[in-house]
Amino acid sequence: MKRVITYGTFDLLHYGHINLLRRAKALGDYLIVVVSSDEFNRDEKHKKCYFTYEQRKALVEAIRYVDLVIPEQSWDQKRSDVHEYHVDTFVMGDDWKGKFDFLKEEGVEVVYLPRTPEISSSRIKRDLYDANAVENENRPDLSQIDTNP
Ligand code: CTP
Repeated sequence: MKRVITYGTFDLLHYGHINLLRRAKALGDYLIVVVSSDEFNRDEKHKKCYFTYEQRKALVEAIRYVDLVIPEQSWDQKRSDVHEYHVDTFVMGDDWKGKFDFLKEEGVEVVYLPRTPEISSSRIKRDLYDANAVENENRPDLSQIDTNP
């Protein structure tokens, strides 16, 4: 059985994530997804998540391509994870191209898949924020309306 592993935050799950997970699973038989813990996001990646780790884990577990979800707690765990979970192939989006080539020394195949264009969790957050700002600007100022005719 060929085992594939991939890592990420997976906040506000979107079709870019699904594409990545589908293509990762197609490279083998068993897909392990290592989801960044809340502490790891906050302290190491300096990322603010909308969903908690438990919520992101439950969402990723519900995807048909995913066989196992475990937490990511440090940058260094990749080297031990690939041995502990008998991984054959390590997959990441190509925004990380070259960054994890050191795993080849552990006997693992390293694959960078092209990212799906024009979508990311940060973009969803930014677009919603901007859309709300415009909506608020166009909203009539109700405080000026005389409610006592
Ligand atoms: N990914 C992808 N295509 C996208 C967005 C993400 O292939 N459009 C991949 C990433 O390359 C990574 C995995 O999905 O391998 C998880 O990425 P993550 O960082 O959680 O997603 P982003 O949407 O990029 O999140 P953020 O905007 O917070 O960086």
